[in-house]
Amino acid sequence: MQMKQCFLTCALALTSLTASTQSHVMDVNTKKIGAPIQSTMYGLFFEDINYAADGGLYGELVKNRSFEFPDRLMGWEPFGTFEVKDDGPFERCPHYVELRNPGHKERRSGLSNDGFFGIGLKQGEDYRFSVWAKAPQGNGKMIVQFIDRATMEEKQEFAEAKIDITSSDWKQYEVVMKSPRTIQKAQLRIYLDGDKTIDLEHVSLFPVNTFKNRKNGMRADLAQALADVHPGLLRFPGGCIVEGVDLATRYQWKNTIGPVENRPLNENRWEYTFPYRFYPDYFQSYGLGFFEFFQLSEDIGAEPLPVLNVGMACQFQNWETEDAHVPYDQLQPYIQDCLDLIEFANGPADSEWGKIRAEMGHPEPFNMKYIGVGNEQWDDLYYKRLEPFVAAIRAKYPNIKIVGTSGPDSEGKMFDKGWAAMTKQKADLVDEHFYRPEAWFLGTPEAKAKYGDKCGGLRYESYDRKGPKVFAGEYACHGKGKKWNHYEASILEAGFMTDFERNADVVYMTAYAPLFAHVEGWQWRPDLIWFDNTRMFKSVSYYVQQMYAQNKGTNMMTLTMDKKPVAGQDGQDGLFASSVFDKNTGEIIVKVINTSKQKQAITLNLLGIKGERTAQTITLCHNGMDDENTLDNPEKITSKQGTLQCEAGKKNTVLNDELQPMSFRLYKIKK
Ligand code: AHR
Repeated sequence: MQMKQCFLTCALALTSLTASTQSHVMDVNTKKIGAPIQSTMYGLFFEDINYAADGGLYGELVKNRSFEFPDRLMGWEPFGTFEVKDDGPFERCPHYVELRNPGHKERRSGLSNDGFFGIGLKQGEDYRFSVWAKAPQGNGKMIVQFIDRATMEEKQEFAEAKIDITSSDWKQYEVVMKSPRTIQKAQLRIYLDGDKTIDLEHVSLFPVNTFKNRKNGMRADLAQALADVHPGLLRFPGGCIVEGVDLATRYQWKNTIGPVENRPLNENRWEYTFPYRFYPDYFQSYGLGFFEFFQLSEDIGAEPLPVLNVGMACQFQNWETEDAHVPYDQLQPYIQDCLDLIEFANGPADSEWGKIRAEMGHPEPFNMKYIGVGNEQWDDLYYKRLEPFVAAIRAKYPNIKIVGTSGPDSEGKMFDKGWAAMTKQKADLVDEHFYRPEAWFLGTPEAKAKYGDKCGGLRYESYDRKGPKVFAGEYACHGKGKKWNHYEASILEAGFMTDFERNADVVYMTAYAPLFAHVEGWQWRPDLIWFDNTRMFKSVSYYVQQMYAQNKGTNMMTLTMDKKPVAGQDGQDGLFASSVFDKNTGEIIVKVINTSKQKQAITLNLLGIKGERTAQTITLCHNGMDDENTLDNPEKITSKQGTLQCEAGKKNTVLNDELQPMSFRLYKIKK
């Protein structure tokens, strides 16, 4: 019995020894510099889903600031004597609120705003309150307060300001208020001081400290997180919101530019997409509009990629309903929208649309190079509609690159049909979307049986090198039964992404999706960055994207094991690897991902360089496979810097290492 037990223990020890000591030898051919890596790698995709814009990245803290929600006072709690009126100063946002004498000196007329799941304020931060107002009798007064309704202290208000309304004409008034505390769910309360009527419109509250200190700017921590990726591309504004539930609610970029006070409200398509995640207060104020998207792209160093409607409402919500879309002979206004957008972005400051850009504060062109036409469309009704767009854009702007789409599937008949149609129409890039389970990312035999050869780490090897280039525009590993951002999913994404690098000659753009989610307002997960009203955390997938984007190199370099690409193939023990060269720094950058549940020893033969070297390393590792970052523990898993000594082998420099189960390590070695 004892003997038997010892035999078993020894056998186990031997197995794990074998797993960790049998090194996987990989050859990195540093002598040959391969295809250039596009500057657009690796990108971000912004869509107003999960309260990503209003209530998220867009710094505005007041919900329904212009009283334009269909329920004019949604988000507001009015009291005293008031009336909603509709002859305000802004044509496309005509509603406002009138506060009148409450009838007794002890009574009050006013209203409180709940913000988006509350108003988040930070201790010591300044907030800019502004309002358009008039006093019909020539003067009136108002009080503005930050309120904590849940407090057990004597007073609910913890900051206060007074504003004199000095004119019977509409004017904007502004006051900066400091918050003495950090609070997730404050309210903004405004009320009449005295008995003289005042009219209020476009009631707004922004942190003064927005990203780059811009007025009408972005929440600083969230925008900084985008910049910190070092993204090559920003695709916007969606996603399905480009299409809308119906054409009336599609995203119309022309409604999103010019003074924010006059940008009409739009319904958000994600308001009621999932009946089990219903958000009746989800609208688009368009405060974060196309000018702001272009400016943000510039601020974070990303190439802008706007996507415009191709004359189609969301196909998922209008399944096979031809008359939900624009008739083929009535597409001209939609085509004109594309042409006008190019002029808005790139035209001279005295052109019709370039002038608006200049008036908004950016006389220089944005130098936009790409345009997406259609989000995630499929079948003939898309291909046929796309044709006149391509013809018109090519005729007027031959240098603009057109991004078409292969639809929502990552493979299959409709996907192939999409690619064939895009190739025929000579689209420059094809936007592919794939939200797939773990097995797909690994390319297991079961996944291959279900999805064919386009799953796993050798997806792009078979792509036509002469056709359109690939934009992997929306993807994420959706763990089976685990659709949150658990660690394992992120590591599989990292493994799969080695195929982007291996195929740099055909994969020109990529973006994980979706980007943002409010913890109290999400419709879709996993997501790259989560936040509440004052805090945020980066998912492990964020670190994966960042590791790639910050270490993308300038040219691909071949890496093989037994002369085969390292892509989780048979006999490769779940290893994925790729290598690039960075001409600017002279570094060889190797990425190795161990997707197996065992440790794996690796040896990198750096063919073409000799002598000892010190490799810089960046590692992503876990303490448990279901680990994730959270608001309370935002840095449970982050990428960690280190170094590793490379030996002077007989013929070339050699790097030996052991990778932890389910881990991602990146090595940078000076050539
Ligand atoms: O990213 C979420 C949604 O997924 C996008 O809106 C759409 O393009 C895709 O179906």
